[in-house]
Amino acid sequence: MTDAGRHPRITIHTLSEVVDVKGNVGSFDVKIVKKARYVDEKACTACGECAKVCPVVRPDEFNMGLSSRHAIYSPFPQAVPSAYVLNSGECLGNNPVVCSKCQDACEKKCIDFHMSDETISERVGTIVVATGLTPHDPRALDEYGYTRFENVLTSLEFERLVNAGGPTQGHLVRPSDRKRPRSVGFVQCVGSRSARRGKSYCSNICCMNTIKSTLVLKEHYPDMDIKVFYIDIRAFGKGFEDLYTRSRRTGVHYVRGLPGQVEQLADGRLRVAVENTAGQSLDFYDLDMLVLAVGIEPAAGTHKLQEMMGLQLSSDGFFLEAHPKLQPVDAATRGVFYAGCAEGPKDIKESVTQASAAAVRAIRLMQSSQIRAEAITSEVITEQCKACGKCAEVCPYNAITVDPKKKIPAKIITAACTGCGTCAAECPFGAIVMNHFTDRQIYDQIDALLDERPSDKILTFACNWCSYAGADYAGVSRLQYPPNARLIRTMCSGRVDEDFIWYAFKKGVPIVLVSGCHIGDCHYIDANHWTAKRVDRVRKKMEKRGLRPERLQLEWISAAEGILFAEVMTRMEQLRQSVSEKEIAETIALLS
Ligand code: FES
Repeated sequence: MTDAGRHPRITIHTLSEVVDVKGNVGSFDVKIVKKARYVDEKACTACGECAKVCPVVRPDEFNMGLSSRHAIYSPFPQAVPSAYVLNSGECLGNNPVVCSKCQDACEKKCIDFHMSDETISERVGTIVVATGLTPHDPRALDEYGYTRFENVLTSLEFERLVNAGGPTQGHLVRPSDRKRPRSVGFVQCVGSRSARRGKSYCSNICCMNTIKSTLVLKEHYPDMDIKVFYIDIRAFGKGFEDLYTRSRRTGVHYVRGLPGQVEQLADGRLRVAVENTAGQSLDFYDLDMLVLAVGIEPAAGTHKLQEMMGLQLSSDGFFLEAHPKLQPVDAATRGVFYAGCAEGPKDIKESVTQASAAAVRAIRLMQSSQIRAEAITSEVITEQCKACGKCAEVCPYNAITVDPKKKIPAKIITAACTGCGTCAAECPFGAIVMNHFTDRQIYDQIDALLDERPSDKILTFACNWCSYAGADYAGVSRLQYPPNARLIRTMCSGRVDEDFIWYAFKKGVPIVLVSGCHIGDCHYIDANHWTAKRVDRVRKKMEKRGLRPERLQLEWISAAEGILFAEVMTRMEQLRQSVSEKEIAETIALLS
């Protein structure tokens, strides 16, 4: 952190919040609100004279409220910049008549009560999102008695207590009487692995953090009685199983089962009732201190940032990477990368690895003066564009600018366009050309495929990344499926224009199948949501026109689902056989 602070080409904006991000890879415009520090950070030498005279005392957030600080303070020992900050909400000196003692004590005259928040803009080529995490708040799990009983702590509070730089200089004491506890219990999975009691996912770090804590305690207090209450221990990293074995060898007692109730006894000790699922017994343990291994949740403000930058979130609420194996640090939006717990729960080693990868990915993009754009991108025919704004609304990448009010036609930012084709499919005026997947090319394919005996065919639109690959997989796996399936490949199912479907029916095909990646797996963020809406819309129109809506089918098939592809095609063939020649002739007459 200090190195980053000293680096001539790194600018650190502390006390700052990103309030707007516009633009695309190579030229993002970022608006930042920098909060007033009320201390000149360049002049302040962090001598601490100001804090000594400050009469306001508040809980110190860095020490999880286990110690206090003043209204003017250094956030933590290695803070960058090494300058004090004044909390204007707490300070009496905002009205200097009331206090202003710090100002008088500061020889360098660094304190300025008239400072105000400022808005700054930065133009950057790439962005690394490293927003961190929020620890789970265990207050809702009332059975553990957190905040009701003083000696029930979270793992973060415990961490500060045993830290040499913490409020007790690393000496473990019970908050209630400041005496050394003789027995300590750890409760695992607090807020993790249960949707009902927090989050359904595993928070990844808690098992190893607890094992580390037990080893630290045993090293300092060999006679301490330590119990760990767990569902199962997940020690899957390099050397982790060894640490777990060491912890057990030192005498730490691992009890399989989570406490159902915690009570405080008259002497201040805690009685923990645990159903031991290994021994099938209900056990009671009297402990001096209980530590709750709280889980990890997405950082506050994740949703706001996601909306601002048009990013994707996973069902857990963390940022979603472009591809879990091939692009694990990239966002789907080009030029945006993830590091640390912004993307999911991680320990320090994993966070450092991902941050290094994100930095390299960003540098690689920015090294050249030019960015290579996809050949498969959309283009606007300006004369045909009526500036309705539909294309910009459906674009998952915010790659289209248009002003419907001022009737400024759509413009595509080629560097940001990834070629899903949703804009071309949704444009009501045919004003967007999707290069390499133009309307003309797709109509020609429909013509060619339905040239002979169209009533025998099943016309399938398959997206490049999942369904088409699924069909391929069915083929190489030698799976049997009806030979009359005819496939048209598009990059995304979002490219399948309503008019292609009507045209195919008009050509006499009994069944049209639109297939793509499963919802949430689309390679173009959420473009297949528009596919689903569009298919729904066409089905309703079919119903109104007296056509059977079942003749238009929508299926989500992934690249690994060759078997599903074969099954779907078999089902489509059965459906096709239910469509009579008379029905097809009526459809053609209706649409001609
Ligand atoms: Fe497959 Fe979008 S890429 S549906």
